[in-house]
Amino acid sequence: MQTNTLFSPYTLGHATLANRIVMAPMTRSRAIHNTPNSLIAEFYAQRAAAGLLITEGTSPSPNGLGYARIPGIFNAEQVAGWKLVTKAVHDKGGKIFIQLMHTGRIGHALNLPAGAKVVAPSAVVAPGQMWTDSEGMKDHPVPHALTADELQATKAEYVQAAKNAVAAGFDGVELHGANGYLLEQFLSPHSNRRTDSYGGSVENRARFVLEVAQEVSNAIGKEKTAIRLSPYGAFNDMPHYPEIDATYSYLAEQLSNIGIVYIHLVDHSSQGAPVVPQAIKETIRKKFKNTLILSGGYTAERAEADLQSGAADLVAFGKPFISNPDLVERFKKGSSLNDKLDVSTFYTPGEKGYTDYPVLA
Ligand SMILES: Cc1cc2nc3c(=O)[nH]c(=O)nc-3n(C[C@H](O)[C@H](O)[C@H](O)COP(=O)(O)O)c2cc1C
Repeated sequence: MQTNTLFSPYTLGHATLANRIVMAPMTRSRAIHNTPNSLIAEFYAQRAAAGLLITEGTSPSPNGLGYARIPGIFNAEQVAGWKLVTKAVHDKGGKIFIQLMHTGRIGHALNLPAGAKVVAPSAVVAPGQMWTDSEGMKDHPVPHALTADELQATKAEYVQAAKNAVAAGFDGVELHGANGYLLEQFLSPHSNRRTDSYGGSVENRARFVLEVAQEVSNAIGKEKTAIRLSPYGAFNDMPHYPEIDATYSYLAEQLSNIGIVYIHLVDHSSQGAPVVPQAIKETIRKKFKNTLILSGGYTAERAEADLQSGAADLVAFGKPFISNPDLVERFKKGSSLNDKLDVSTFYTPGEKGYTDYPVLA
């Protein structure tokens, strides 16, 4: 039996994690031409003592590169760039999953390569604006509603990206089903107004997500396939709807049947987002038989409590890992954390505020 503390090892599918500490996925916009590089490899290698690293959101498609300077994993240069990252992390004994993030309607054509377009389940515009390097802030465009054929092609892009991820040396793939990007755009009746078998009922709105999860599992193995979900999240224009509980309960049950390796739950209430009711976390815990990762506003103490109570198997930390490359060591020693977090360099290019945070002497 595995003992549940922050520093006990954990078996995740085929991978043995050194501890229960996960680095949450964080977009950092350092991928010039949407391609990972040695600076990005250095960033992840600095943090490789985590039991599991999850990369920044990475697009499976030219259409999914909605933000400036985010990486993709759909061409050979990107696969070569990611090999630098996986090698650097594995050389330090770490494990790393890639987060596949298709931004869907949250994006701007100016951030996309030639020929790509901003797409979504339906032509429903998100309020707000998107940063573009060439013209600054721009309104989100009205997205192109995926046709039946384009929807199948988009699914195929996820499958190919997952295969590319394995070829690049990743230990697995986390599908970004949270925070209002393409997969969640299918789940929500606000952004999904389709009248075909991918819209309408809970089952229909969940269909795209479940088919992607199933087909990625078929391609790379269910023990390498995972998903991030954000029930009751509101980020990126995701208003609440009456069937939230029904939707996530159904998803948890079906994802468990597919047998994917983990569900990673987002709770951003500590940063002002709506509270995620305890009941839906417990429902997901009960219906989903594999690993559960919890995230959002965790301290070492709160993580220890949730591991020991069995609420979570692993706990993910985001911002603490930005300003503490040696977060695991600090937790182990009970040292204070560097809380000088420079928000102004979250998404700027270069090493400042990225690879230059201090470690313990
Ligand atoms: C700079 C930054 C970038 C982020 N990018 C992503 C992302 O690409 N994908 C994602 O799922 N979450 C993203 N998040 C959310 C984090 O994964 C995490 O859920 C959030 O920071 C809350 O955890 P924390 O309180 O430990 O920071 C991002 C957060 C930050 C601060």
